Amino acid sequence: MIYPIVGFGHPTLRKVAQPITADYPELKQLVSDMFETMYNADGVGLAAPQIDLSIRVVVIGFRPYDEKSDTYGEPAEEHVLINPEILEYRGEKQYFNEGCLSIPDIHEDVLRPERVVVRYCDTDFVEHTEEFSGMLARVAQHEIDHLDGKVFTDRLSNLRRTMLHRRLNDIASGRVATHYRMKPNKRK
Ligand code: NI
Repeated sequence: MIYPIVGFGHPTLRKVAQPITADYPELKQLVSDMFETMYNADGVGLAAPQIDLSIRVVVIGFRPYDEKSDTYGEPAEEHVLINPEILEYRGEKQYFNEGCLSIPDIHEDVLRPERVVVRYCDTDFVEHTEEFSGMLARVAQHEIDHLDGKVFTDRLSNLRRTMLHRRLNDIASGRVATHYRMKPNKRK
């Protein structure tokens, strides 16, 4: 099932999401639906608050893209992070151009550490502690921010954010076109 994605300005994106327990109902179905929702929107990461569920669940997946046929292959790598926690930041901070399914059409360079040590549970609630690097480290940090009520534009300079103010307001007001379905923000 494909969920509609909530956009910038939706209150759920600003909440600190709650950890879940092993008896969370239909977790595997939810995770499978989150992957479907993410791939449908051509994303590489999705956090549960982005589908209006304030719980600490993240999916990350990378699919090879074939330019000739303009199609995606089977996912080469998938990760599910339940109740993830960043234990340690490692390496230099680097800029990388980020986007977000909740903030369509805005892409900005964001500074983040190149590696992170993350403790998380898988869908069987087995605990893992791993060092993430490369794209995985980048996407994991972006998605874990979502669980803490943060979005990537919060990490930009005041000047950059001021310059984006109008476009962010447009998204919050639903004045944005996407090829995937978005959930309208509640009217004030
Ligand atoms: Ni995002």
